[in-house]
Amino acid sequence: MAEIIVALDVQTRAEAVSKIETIGEAVGFYKIGMELFTAEGPDVVKAVRDMGKKVFLDLKFHDIPRTVERAVRSAAKLGVDLLTIHSTGGRAMIRAAADAAAEFGAAGPKVLAVTVLTSLDRTDLEDVGITGRSPADQVFEMARFAVANGASGLVCSPMEVGRLSAALPAGTLFITPGVRPAGAALGDQKRVATPAEAVRDGATHLVVGRPILAAPDPAAAARSILDEIRA
Ligand code: C5P
Repeated sequence: MAEIIVALDVQTRAEAVSKIETIGEAVGFYKIGMELFTAEGPDVVKAVRDMGKKVFLDLKFHDIPRTVERAVRSAAKLGVDLLTIHSTGGRAMIRAAADAAAEFGAAGPKVLAVTVLTSLDRTDLEDVGITGRSPADQVFEMARFAVANGASGLVCSPMEVGRLSAALPAGTLFITPGVRPAGAALGDQKRVATPAEAVRDGATHLVVGRPILAAPDPAAAARSILDEIRA
């Protein structure tokens, strides 16, 4: 069954720990992104791991292959389960990340590729020299490229996951943010899907932030999303 990953979009380790305590047993997987990691460093990863939870380290590595390889090793030693790289780092960089993760065997992290940030439209892509392809087609081609070069999965929008999951090998992971239970506030998200829709289309992991973190009862909000996935 698809798993929920709660985005720890908070600034301090104390807030992160308190959110995890409040959510309790309902959720076993948390995303640590640039905001929290830059503020608190590897200690926050250790704190989440010490609470018995899995970690998705979303730092979107993008550098020369050697540097990314070594950063992936560092992340693996911290015990993270999922991490992100930019697929635009190129074939050798993706391969270096995948090979470094593979050194840690089954316990090592899975490398997820980011294709095109959802904040970019066609004009933004043209600004950086990507012309003649729609953002959706660019996502599709970069996804195939990343998986062919060793990425275990992709971060993608729920609007893209159907097309990608139909085309990519079985076992590829699809991590989708932008998920909103029916009737939930959208916040700044524009193109959203319900948890059930995302899973039906092939999502293996749903990244959920505010619908759980900002709920009056975060544990109940998480359980209701899990019920929706099961149904
Ligand atoms: O609060 P919300 O559920 O919108 O949080 C979604 C999380 O997923 C945030 O951490 C956000 O940065 C991340 N994300 C996203 N859309 C993307 C990539 C990542 O919302 N395209």
